[in-house]
Amino acid sequence: MNIDLASRVENADPRDIPFCRTVITPDAQAAAVRVLQSGWVTMGQESIAFEEEFASWLGARHVVAVSSCTAALQMALMGLKLPNGSAVLTPTLTFSGAVQAILHAGLRPILVDVDEQSLGVSEAGVAAAARKGAEAMVVQHMAGYPLDARDLANAAGISHSRVVEDAAHGLGAAIAGAAIGSESPAACFSFYATKNLPIGEGGAIATTDRQLADRLRAMRLHGMTRDAWRRYELSGSWEYSVEDVGLKANFTDLQAAIGRAQLRELGGWQRRRAELAARYDAHLVRIRGIQLPPRPLRAVHAWHLYIVQIHEEFGRSRDETAASLAEHGIGTSVHFIPVHQLSYFRRTLGTEMCSTLPVADLVFPRLLSLPLYPDMSDDDVDRVCQTLEDLSRRSSHRMPIGEPHGSR
Ligand SMILES: Cc1ncc(COP(=O)(O)O)c(C=O)c1O
Repeated sequence: MNIDLASRVENADPRDIPFCRTVITPDAQAAAVRVLQSGWVTMGQESIAFEEEFASWLGARHVVAVSSCTAALQMALMGLKLPNGSAVLTPTLTFSGAVQAILHAGLRPILVDVDEQSLGVSEAGVAAAARKGAEAMVVQHMAGYPLDARDLANAAGISHSRVVEDAAHGLGAAIAGAAIGSESPAACFSFYATKNLPIGEGGAIATTDRQLADRLRAMRLHGMTRDAWRRYELSGSWEYSVEDVGLKANFTDLQAAIGRAQLRELGGWQRRRAELAARYDAHLVRIRGIQLPPRPLRAVHAWHLYIVQIHEEFGRSRDETAASLAEHGIGTSVHFIPVHQLSYFRRTLGTEMCSTLPVADLVFPRLLSLPLYPDMSDDDVDRVCQTLEDLSRRSSHRMPIGEPHGSR
């Protein structure tokens, strides 16, 4: 451990509630050591086993594990084989890397405004944006609130097979009993350190389409027709062919071993996330000026994030609230800076598109993500809520309205 990190760990107050704490279980740690000692650490049999187990957890037909959700999105979009520059609808309130994936696939993002309640996109929103062109669409399940990809495809006037789901937040969510990703032409998941199935890094594409799965398996490893471990097996052959362009975006057995052990905990972790969200709701509903995250009808929320909206009646702005919580040892975050407020996208997507997303501009200054992870205790949630309640009582001044981020 370097000196900086060592002193930060020593000085951390054990009562602090960070925004996120990644748990790698003892079983996952042991599994990682087993792979490290095995003589084969990159993609191999362990990765195949992870794909099978993840597919069975989701109820999906095929799963292709890759290096990140960002790579998964790019690959799923490349898999559509659209002409260069084709228009792809994407929410503006999303992770900027997810929009970069559209650009890396050679396609053209068309930003869709946000729904003020769900923080995802609405049917009316995609229908309006589709007038600027829509060959395909990325549907993002913001914070874990599931959206119906078929309904959105209909509203946008495109085929369901042209929808790529960004399920980085959606693992554990379901609509009418079907898990997000179980019936999708392409649903992309993230195993980043903060996500519902944390491995550290990693991603996966779940698909109903066997041919797409085969293409993605070649695409993740330079377009080669035979994976490395198959070439190095005693019974294998050194020969391979390259039939299409590929990336270097494979999974590794080290990630797979951690992932397989973590997957056994996922059901329990999801139940705990839902309990914690309900506990937040019960307490925060009493505080004026705090808008709770909505609950979907006939659907299961994945509770990746617990995002509240801080309104004027709270008496402090979102940024003042975050700073005060930090003084009390409570970490928070903001998801996300709307893509059209970031300078690169303003420059490249043009002012016309970037100046017509009023709801995202309105809600962004209110968004605050509170800590939510399975090993939080009930007392942790109560402390976050009590601190917010104390802050609301002490606030006497009016909240300044926030400005779009990119304009500073
Ligand atoms: C909505 C969304 N999509 C995509 C990603 C990218 O995931 P990864 O870090 O696995 O590439 C993230 C990561 O935070 C995300 O929040």
